[in-house]
Amino acid sequence: MSKLNIITHPSAYLRKISAPVKKRYIPLPDCQQLIGDMIETMRLSDGIGLAAPQVGKNLRIIIVLDGDKPLVFINPKLYRKSWRKVETEEGCLSIPGVWGKVKRHYAVSVTGLNQKGEKVRLRARGLLAVVFQHEVDHLDGVLFIDKAKKLNEPPKM
Ligand code: CO
Repeated sequence: MSKLNIITHPSAYLRKISAPVKKRYIPLPDCQQLIGDMIETMRLSDGIGLAAPQVGKNLRIIIVLDGDKPLVFINPKLYRKSWRKVETEEGCLSIPGVWGKVKRHYAVSVTGLNQKGEKVRLRARGLLAVVFQHEVDHLDGVLFIDKAKKLNEPPKM
């Protein structure tokens, strides 16, 4: 596994609608390598989520960190979005040094395929739900800066 270059804003990769992954592509070495490299890249960058367009692949693949476990979702779909919303200070590996408060659903259900191509679903709450929404936005060319009320530079150390 190797660390991939993270694409930073502004870039056309980050603004495209990413394509669904065909089920037969998932077991192929190319796809498995991409997923492995994405996990490695997220870890080495201290991220809690990563979407394929951020590494220059406009495919509907996201990695979300659940505690210390990376969850792979291919062709993720969000449903059962809670009425309750939460405002969280968000950042993004593709927009270094910028933070901003974004209002999102407190809880969402996610369905998609895992790294083996099996159908998976999950109910996420709190930070995990926020990360899923942030990453799925990436697949639709949406960045948190489009939704943040105001953007801040990080506090000076
Ligand atoms: Co991001």
